[in-house]
This record gives sequence, C-alpha cells and structure tokens, in this order.
Amino acid sequence: MGTSMNYRNSLKLTLTFSTIISLLVRVVPCTGNEPVVKKVGDKAELGHCNNDKAITNSIVMWEVHRPGKKIQTVTEKHSFDSRVQIHRNHYEELLLEINTVREADAGRYICKTGTTGNMSIHKEIEIIVQFGPKLSWESINRTMHEGETGELWCNASGIPKPTIEWFRKFRVNNDTRYENIGISGNMLRIHNITRYAKDIYKCHASNELGSAEGFINVDVLFPAELEVFEEELQGVNGDLNVEMACAVTANPMVNIVWYKGDEENHIQENNWKYKIQNEDDMKEYYYTTISILKKVYPLEHADFDTYYCKAQNDTGHDIASKAINLARRPEK
Ligand SMILES: *[C@@H]1O[C@H](CO)[C@@H](O)[C@H](O)[C@H]1NC(C)=O
Ligand SMILES: *[C@@H]1O[C@H](CO)[C@@H](O)[C@H](O)[C@H]1NC(C)=O
Ligand SMILES: *[C@@H]1O[C@H](CO)[C@@H](O)[C@H](O)[C@H]1NC(C)=O
Ligand SMILES: *[C@@H]1O[C@H](CO)[C@@H](O)[C@H](O)[C@H]1NC(C)=O
Ligand SMILES: *[C@@H]1O[C@H](CO)[C@@H](O)[C@H](O)[C@H]1NC(C)=O
Ligand SMILES: *[C@@H]1O[C@H](CO)[C@@H](O)[C@H](O)[C@H]1NC(C)=O
Repeated sequence: MGTSMNYRNSLKLTLTFSTIISLLVRVVPCTGNEPVVKKVGDKAELGHCNNDKAITNSIVMWEVHRPGKKIQTVTEKHSFDSRVQIHRNHYEELLLEINTVREADAGRYICKTGTTGNMSIHKEIEIIVQFGPKLSWESINRTMHEGETGELWCNASGIPKPTIEWFRKFRVNNDTRYENIGISGNMLRIHNITRYAKDIYKCHASNELGSAEGFINVDVLFPAELEVFEEELQGVNGDLNVEMACAVTANPMVNIVWYKGDEENHIQENNWKYKIQNEDDMKEYYYTTISILKKVYPLEHADFDTYYCKAQNDTGHDIASKAINLARRPEK
C-alpha cells in the first residue's frame, strides 16, 4: 500500500509543472467555488477556463444559468449580450468578463470545454449581485375588520438581506411624524385590531447599499353603533328649540335619518318645523357622526310622540335604530 503511494507521488514529481496544472483542471472540476460577490455597476471577471491543448479543436463555452431565464451561452465568437464576453489576457488565459454588472446577471456560470458534442464541465461559479432594497409598491391600502389579527408585509428585496423597521403615523394625534414601533422584520402582526389602529404604517428597508420605504394605509372596519343622548325628553306646548341628539360610530360611515310614526317618511332636513344638523368633522379620526334634530317651531299637541334616529348604509339598508320619546311634562 505504502509503496504504491510513494510510487505515485514520485511519478507526479517527474511530470512537468504545466501538465500537473492541466491534469488538475481536467480531473478536478472546480465546482463548489466561493460565490463571486459584486455590486450593481461593478465589473466581474470569471477566471480561467482555458482550452484543453491536449484536445484537438477544443473550445471554451460558458453557460449562464439565471433564475427564471433560458440558459444562455457565450463562446469566444459569440455572446448573447455585448456586456458579457470571453477575453484572452496576456498569458493567453480565457476570462469571462461582465461589464457593468446588473441585478439580472446573478446566477450560475458554468464553463465547459471540449469539442462540439463532447463538452465537460470545468468550472462552476455563482455570481451574487448586491443591490439596495427594493419594494414592488410604494403605497398600498389595507382594509381590516375590528377584532381580527392583521399582518402587514414588507417584502423588500435586496442583497444583503435588508433590515426592516416599522413606523406608524398616528392619525388621532394629527401628527406628521412617524414613530418607530420597535418591531423589525418583514411582517408586522397586529393582534385583535381595534378601530384606533387605523393609521399609516411605514416600513423602512435598508442595507449597506441603500434603503426603500413603503406606506400601508390601514383602514379598520366595524359595524355601526348608534347612541341617543337622552331617551326621554319632556316639554310643554309652545316650547321652542327642543333638541334631540343621536351619534353613530361606524366604518364605513352610515347615514342618519330621523322619522316619527311612518318609518318610510323621513323628517326632511330643513323645513319650517325641523332643522337637522349633522356634524361629521370628527369622522376621519373617530368615525363618529352626530346628528341633532332641532324642533324650530313651537311644540304642539302632535309633537309629543316617539322619534327615531335610524342608521342606514349607502344602499339604504337599515343598520340600527334608537327611539327618543318626547313626553308632555305633567301639569302641576
Ligand atoms: C470526450 O472527451 C474526453 C476528453 O475530454 C475524451 O476522453 C472522450 O473520449 C471523448 N468522448 C468522445 C465520445 O469523443
Ligand atoms: C388608497 O385609497 C385612497 C383613498 O382612500 C385612494 O386615493 C388611493 O388611490 C388608494 N391607493 C391605492 C394604491 O389603491
Ligand atoms: C412576503 O413573504 C412571505 C415569505 O417570506 C410570504 O409568506 C408572504 O406571503 C409575502 N407577503 C406578500 C404580501 O407578498
Ligand atoms: C390636523 O392638521 C391639519 C393641518 O396640519 C389641520 O388643518 C387640521 O385642522 C388638524 N386637525 C385636527 C383634528 O387637529
Ligand atoms: C380584543 O379587544 C377587545 C377590545 O379591546 C376585547 O374586549 C377583547 O377581549 C379582545 N379579544 C381578544 C381575543 O384578545
Ligand atoms: C348595506 O346593508 C345590507 C344589509 O346588511 C348589506 O347587504 C349591504 O351589502 C350593505 N351595503 C353597503 C354598501 O354596505
């Protein structure tokens, strides 16, 4: 055993230096190389994959395997892209040069040598192209329902993998600043989401090559809640400016209508008897609309009745209703 080992070693020593090199190149394909890491715009040189002089008419061919694309080939005579060429250097070594590297150049580059129809792999090199974070969107709208668990995603691409931080612009504060939520990662999960989570969320993705931002405008839907301020009012004939108030909190907002007696016969907004005032300034922040029904004509017998404040959605469907009773104050 030992003798045969020594014999082989001594045989190797008698070979010329160049033969050893060519033997090594031929016998041990250099697969499993460290990847070549380049930035967008760099020049990449993938080295030596030479013709095998021992083979007549040997040629060199690089195969370019890029994810999601057809395999392309480059020979000394032909290339699929003028930026990608095989060059001979002073030492007659063949290099694959890629000028102004692009993101799409990332992939596996396989060098084959031999003769047409009998090529063997000599080298396999992976090129990693570094680039700053990118998001496929700038701003999106998300609608969630109160009580559910919502996930906001910020799948920024980028190499090295970007660090992602989350920020929130609180609507209620009417503040223009974004506050760091203190959560990092490509997903922000909001448990048991409440209506007060309706805000603008921002994700900031960064790596050493740059940064990108995305804005997610979150709207939280919840069913209408209707309240009256007083369920029972009292008055006497001749009273002026009797007011009834009703508030609806909802998202999407619903309309408030008033009626007395006939449900289909809504009290008209402004006539000589009634004035209806809707205040929805706070709608954007608190989703609340307050409606005030004001009796602007002196109370008379027929006005002592039950009034209804009713919430209807945009398509005119009834959502909720509450009664207010206007009673005649007992005479002393
Ligand atoms: C293919 O090439 C190798 C050398 O790279 C050679 O040993 C082999 O005989 C060739 N095969 C054919 C079918 O030509
Ligand atoms: C998001 O919603 C707003 C209005 O609420 C609208 O103007 C905008 O176009 C929407 N954006 C997208 C990306 O849908
Ligand atoms: C973001 O990427 C994760 C995997 O990391 C995937 O599960 C998720 O669906 C992606 N989200 C979006 C909105 O693309
Ligand atoms: C929020 O700010 C805007 C302008 O910065 C202002 O016009 C608006 O009145 C403010 N709203 C509230 C509720 O403070
Ligand atoms: C969700 O939040 C509501 C209101 O804060 C609370 O009443 C309810 O118990 C919460 N549900 C869960 C599952 O945490
Ligand atoms: C209005 O309410 C009805 C009944 O609940 C529902 O079927 C309809 O989708 C709602 N329309 C809108 C615009 O919310």
